[in-house]
Formats: sequence, C-alpha cells, structure tokens
Amino acid sequence: MPDNQNQFPPDFLWGAATASYQIEGAAHEDGRGESVWDRFCATPGKVRNGDTGERACDFYHRYPDDIALMRDLGLDAFRFSIAWPRVLPEGRGRVNEAGLDFYDRLVDELLANDIEPWVTLFHWDTPQALEDEGGWPARSTAEAFGEYAEAVARRLGDRVHNWITHNEPWVHAWIGHSWGQHAPGRTSESDAVATAHHLLLSHGWAVDVIRALSPDAQVGITLNLAQSYPLNETPEDEAAAWQVDGEANRWFLDPLFRGAYPPDLLQRNELLAPFIQNGDLRTISVPTDFLGVNNYFRFLVSAGSDGPRMESDTENQHTDMGWEVYPDGLRRLLVRVARDYEPRAIYITENGAAFGDTRGHDGHVHDPERTAYLQSYIDAVGQAIGEGAPVKGYFVWSLLDNFEWSHGYSKRFGIVYIDYPTLERVPKDSFYWYREFIGSRPRAPQPSPIATG
Ligand code: FCB
Repeated sequence: MPDNQNQFPPDFLWGAATASYQIEGAAHEDGRGESVWDRFCATPGKVRNGDTGERACDFYHRYPDDIALMRDLGLDAFRFSIAWPRVLPEGRGRVNEAGLDFYDRLVDELLANDIEPWVTLFHWDTPQALEDEGGWPARSTAEAFGEYAEAVARRLGDRVHNWITHNEPWVHAWIGHSWGQHAPGRTSESDAVATAHHLLLSHGWAVDVIRALSPDAQVGITLNLAQSYPLNETPEDEAAAWQVDGEANRWFLDPLFRGAYPPDLLQRNELLAPFIQNGDLRTISVPTDFLGVNNYFRFLVSAGSDGPRMESDTENQHTDMGWEVYPDGLRRLLVRVARDYEPRAIYITENGAAFGDTRGHDGHVHDPERTAYLQSYIDAVGQAIGEGAPVKGYFVWSLLDNFEWSHGYSKRFGIVYIDYPTLERVPKDSFYWYREFIGSRPRAPQPSPIATG
C-alpha cells in the first residue's frame, strides 16, 4: 500500500466526522427549536430537490447501531456536532435538558465502546430565533454562543476532552451570508465579514468557557484551508493566488495565530472596521491546543481582468462535487501552516470525496475511487508528518452518506452507504479498506516486564 501505516506514529488518531443537521433528523423531537437550516430548506428553490434534514439518517434514534458500526470499523474517535437549537431552542436563556440528554447518551455510548467523542459546538445550525434578532452579523449572537458553550460544557465536560468551537467559519460566513447558497441565505459582503469576525470572537470566548468547565480539555477550531497555486508562474498569477490565499486562509489563520487580520486585503479591512472593538483580537488569538484542518481540494488561480479567476486542471480527476483531486496540495498546506503559524498540533478534521455510488446486484457498494482518494490523501498526510508537520489525527468525511447542504441527498460522501427509503446502512468497500488500514497500525512498544525479587 502506498499509504503505509509506518508513516504514522502508533498513537495517531483515526476517526470519522459528521455534523448534526446532516445526520440527526428528529427535527421536532424533545423540544428542539428551529434552526436556520430548517427555515432555508423550507424556502422553495434553496435546496436541490426540496430535500431537508427532517429525517436525514435518523442518527438521533439509530446512534447505538451506528456506534456498533464504528466499533467494527475500529475507530479511535468520532467527531459529531451539537445542534444549538436542541440545547437552547430560543438561542439563549432557557436550557432544554431533554436536548442535552441526547448528547449525554451519545457520549456515554461512545465511551462504552472505547471511541473518543470529539465535539464540534457549531456546524452551522444557528437557532432561527437568533437569526431573527440579527444573526451572526450582530455581536449579540457571539455573546449567545458563550451561553450555549457553557450549557454544553457544563453537561458534557466531565467526559468530553476534545472540543472544536467552530466548523469552517469561511464557509458559514461567505457561502451563507454573501453568496446566499447556504442558510441563512444572506447576500451581503458586509454581513459575511461581520459574521466571520463574530464567529472568531465567540471562538475566543468559548475557549475560556470550555477550559473552565472541562478538566484536561483540548480545545481548537476547524478551518477549511486549501493551498493556493498560481496557474502560471507569472507575477500576475502569483499575486492572484496570494489574494485568494488571503481571502480563504490567512483571513482566519492570521487573527487566530498572530492577533491581526492580513493587511493586504484593503477592501475587506475597510468593511471590517466598524465591527472590531478593543481587545477583540486578543480574545481571538487565545492560544489553542490544536488546529483542525478540513481539506478537499486546492485552488488554482489566474489573474483575470476583474480579479482572481478560479481555474481547474482538467487533466486531473474530479469528484462528484467537481472538486479536483490533488493530494499534494494537502501535503504542502500542512507543511506551510506548520511553518508559518506553529500550531501545537494539527488534526485533519475532515477529508473525503463524493462519488456517484450505487448498490450493485451483489448488494455491495464498490467505490474504488473513494478508496484511492483516501489512500492518496492519507499518504500526503504521512509525508507532511515526515516533513515536520505536527499532525496527530485524521477524520474521514464522512461516516455516513448524509444531507449535503444545498445539494440535498444527491452527493454521497460516506464510507457507509445509506439506502434513503429504508435508511439501511451498507458499508462500502472503502469502509472495509479503512478498517483494514486502521487495523494494520504498528503496535506501541510494550514496556518490558520489570524483574522483581
Ligand atoms: C465541508 C463541511 C461538511 C461537508 C463537507 C463535504 O465543507 O464542513 O459539513 O459538507 O464539506
């Protein structure tokens, strides 16, 4: 195998990742409030095929069986997110204990199966009540997030030791608030900039809250990052690639690790100015225990007449999302982030691929492209470790096929196939490959028995 386990230390963490709205279903149970994704899905024309997360994979009820699958897979860790509107149906104030009970049971079941829970507090399902009061462009939503973090950490902090505050603030800010393609569907660049700032600010506040309530907590944030390549090695294309790197990567990495927004993005800094208060950047740059990196593709950029233009190398394979398969982009990204920002540790909190899987006559799902994708990306992670990047774990996206946001159920990322009419789980060939790969890890050296007497 090209992705030899020998590239990884014996204590490297192998996991799988999911998110609440994409898998849970049970949208109206046990006092859950409405989220912006419920509202967005109910708005005609927003989500392909009119799909919604109302039922999704029904993980809310089927989690014990899914955890049995995880155990069979040999997972060390499972990353899931908490639905804020289950915990605080109005976004702040009244805590819904029944909502917390679900996560309590989930955490206990994972621990009983020797699987470490990795909790993401926010994977985009803001309570609709907060959106109605101004949403993330308003600073008060960041304050409400502190209350939410406190309620969760108070309940789960004794058993959960790994916490991710936010998932992919860039995606939530820009795709949800400027491009209008994700909930809440806003289309204002200024809203996107304010949202990104308030997400980062609330991250900083939440780190302190979690540390106070969860002994031995390891706390970090997950960013979607992608290495940016110039199409040609011309000064124009290089400048365009650097601009894209600034907008997508440095706009988050710089404030988190250096306490300053990148000065080269003049227009964006101007939009941001009214939202920054004294001390915000100190809050945002609170030291963390790890950086979570989600990576799916690279950027290939040329200088267009009205700004950077996204290109695509048609000679390379593309997934069902149209994303270019380019594993060396992940290696370069990790080495560069490690060098420029020196995070204490890095976890790949998402990586994977959608392909048009079908169930064959033999009842199985043969997905050789996904296995090849995972092999090549995992191999790239191993190479980055060899070059000094402090990567400590890898989570495949995703355990299950699930609700892929505006694409509805049309994109399958799982290593387990979901037959949506029956909700039957069918492990794909890539599941069996991952199981074998995890199972082939080198054993940690055993301490030699100490002679007594
Ligand atoms: C990431 C999201 C995740 C999933 C994958 C494919 O941007 O964090 O929820 O949609 O992409």
